[in-house]
Amino acid sequence: MDCALGGAGLIVVSPPFIALADVEKRFDDRRTGRTTQALAGLSLTVDEGEFVCLLGPSGCGKSTVLDLLAGFERPTQGRVTIGGQPVGRPDPDRGMVFQDATLFPWLSVLDNITFAPRLAGRPAADYRARAQELIDVMGLRGFERHAVYELSGGMRQRVAIARAWISQPLLLLMDEPFGALDAQTRLDMQELLLAARDRNRATVLFVTHDVEEALLLADRIAIMSHRPGRIVSELVVPYPRPRTYEEIIGTQQFGELKRSIVAMLRREAPTAAALPPADHGRV
Ligand SMILES: Nc1ncnc2c1ncn2[C@@H]1O[C@H](COP(=O)(O)OP(=O)(O)O)[C@@H](O)[C@H]1O
Ligand SMILES: [Mg+2]
Repeated sequence: MDCALGGAGLIVVSPPFIALADVEKRFDDRRTGRTTQALAGLSLTVDEGEFVCLLGPSGCGKSTVLDLLAGFERPTQGRVTIGGQPVGRPDPDRGMVFQDATLFPWLSVLDNITFAPRLAGRPAADYRARAQELIDVMGLRGFERHAVYELSGGMRQRVAIARAWISQPLLLLMDEPFGALDAQTRLDMQELLLAARDRNRATVLFVTHDVEEALLLADRIAIMSHRPGRIVSELVVPYPRPRTYEEIIGTQQFGELKRSIVAMLRREAPTAAALPPADHGRV
């Protein structure tokens, strides 16, 4: 939250960029009559330009939080605001990247990346240079005209990020975007994301189940309870930027942070059977 000294000597506190206040989300299945309480009493704020990672056990409502911010869902109770305004319909100002690159398989790389501005009827001159820059940054040069079904998983994910990024979103919502990638590609993608984001200063809310990924990427990590999800713990990541995996991975502090986060997540995991091996950073 930003504070500044106002004209009359008053401390002016501007509201956080993103605020979820005491949010409840219930899904009512009319067909079966079943109700799922996904979120209850969830409060979280994110400042402009901040990179926050959301960690929590499977099914605790992480994707639901992103859906509320994207405008795909509405809270049953509580308030979800961006820039002080209740979230309305989905908007390219809020870019969403999912775990499986949800691209249009029959369209080319370039047509996927430029989908939003073309849909909005913007002239090509507005976005062509930016599209080319993104293609270069994402290592997709030479593949502009390829259909996306011809690409590897890592390349498809890069197209998905470029597609979200072309609208220069104020907020990027990322739902386990690198979860399906092999370790090397994931590391490349994490570094690309950090580099691109350092230039744009977008606000990022990033869901992951990988503790190391959260420590590499985030300014702050928010940990959710089991369902119905709420935030049970938040911690500030102490590493300065720019940071690389190699710089932080070997330090004693990294090991300690990782261990305490894994312990918190284990406490939230609903059953022991769902737990990973003890020394593993992914939960
Ligand atoms: N559209 C929906 N209709 C009914 N139940 C849903 C819907 N979306 C999510 N849920 C339920 O809400 C809970 C939280 O889901 P989700 O946000 O996807 O969790 P996470 O991303 O943490 O794994 C789950 O029990 C899920 O089945
Ligand atoms: Mg999810």
